[in-house]
Amino acid sequence: MKISVIGCGYLGAVHAACMAKLGHEVVGIDTDAAKIEALADGRPPFFEPGLPELLSEGVASGRLRFSADIAEAAGARVHFLCVGTPQKHGEFAADLRYVDAAFTDLRQHVNAGDLVVGKSTVPVGTAERLAAAYEGTDATLVWNPEFLREGFAVKDTLHPDRLVYGVPEGAAGEQAAELLDEVYARPMSEGTPRIITDYATAQLVKVAANSFLATKISFINAMAELCEATGADVTALADAIGHDDRIGRRFLNAGLGFGGGCLPKDIRAFMARAGELGVDQALSFLREVDAINMRRRVRMVDLAREVCGGSIVGRKVAVLGAAFKPNSDDVRDSPALNVAEQMNLQGAYVTVTDPEAVENARRRFPDLKYTESFEDAVEDAELILLLTEWKEYVELDPTALSDKVAQRRILDGRNVLDPARWRAAGWTYRALGRP
Ligand code: UDX
Repeated sequence: MKISVIGCGYLGAVHAACMAKLGHEVVGIDTDAAKIEALADGRPPFFEPGLPELLSEGVASGRLRFSADIAEAAGARVHFLCVGTPQKHGEFAADLRYVDAAFTDLRQHVNAGDLVVGKSTVPVGTAERLAAAYEGTDATLVWNPEFLREGFAVKDTLHPDRLVYGVPEGAAGEQAAELLDEVYARPMSEGTPRIITDYATAQLVKVAANSFLATKISFINAMAELCEATGADVTALADAIGHDDRIGRRFLNAGLGFGGGCLPKDIRAFMARAGELGVDQALSFLREVDAINMRRRVRMVDLAREVCGGSIVGRKVAVLGAAFKPNSDDVRDSPALNVAEQMNLQGAYVTVTDPEAVENARRRFPDLKYTESFEDAVEDAELILLLTEWKEYVELDPTALSDKVAQRRILDGRNVLDPARWRAAGWTYRALGRP
């Protein structure tokens, strides 16, 4: 199948490479010429395991190419729209300018019978509006939300746990679903469930899923606050309630909370849209979810102050982790950088290190001090903060680290270390929600 993918960010670049892997002939399109050049060269402009190999393979096979010219989308049978929907500056609502521009630009290049497939996360009602704008083209709009996780994006795209098609009513919708089934023939042959809905449901599925995940994390972090007030251990609590199949252990890791380019902005945009629809009360709990999440960051700084004897002014602090989660170089709304920045502003000498995200972090928070070297970061530190659970940090040896630091104090912002092991090696170990 001939496919175009408009927007080659995290979502689109991975989608384009994976569609080529599935055997389709793909052109990836983006307005950023530098990005296009890098992708065509097999160098994704962000860190994503497995993607460089997939890009090189696709380009070498001749099935994958990239272009900065949207006219190259003409001739494709299926067009995937994968542009970003960031939070509007100073508002909760999503900024739809990239979605609107992409749909407007693409309109001139679609042919009768084409499928235009929206994958971006949008406020419910957007697909209906865009479908109306495409009337007269004889192309059909489908809403097919994407659920990929950064760090597992290739696997999540090649082997999704479900496919959702939001289609128009009647024969056009049925034909659209058949065509999309051809595109996804391989994952469908693996038994991936496919759910066909109307536009509104498909758009809501995505934000409902992300709201649920955010709520699950904030729930356990609220329990962490209770644990802190009572001397209980939130990790044992999560293990115990997680054994109940109805609850499940996944996404119950208490700590510094969620960040990244999706969960925070998606729950806010969802609240904004609910307000427009006159049902803001239905989502008022998401305000609390957001507030619990943001409170963890402040609590982390308070904890740092506590273990430093009441003040962090002038203290040499090593922050391990800048990415919003491991296996990513994405620093958008990174809890780790938020904590580092607060401590820096409050007078600590902070050095941030990360296996992949230093460059991106430096661009976003140029005032912080960075090093690519773990050794340099921890040298003579009076306090270590583990804020992103990269494997190499989880596996740190407290005895070996003892000689390098000035003071053996560690805050485990992700509840991934063994407190007994660290304490036995003479460290002051503290964590969120643990005694
Ligand atoms: C998320 C959704 O998982 C994905 O389905 C959607 O398509 C996009 O948004 P992503 O942003 O890549 O994906 O990250 P995810 O793995 O969901 O983690 C989000 C944040 O939650 C991270 O900051 C992570 O550290 C945090 N988290 C996750 C916790 O604090 N505790 C947990 O138990 C799980």
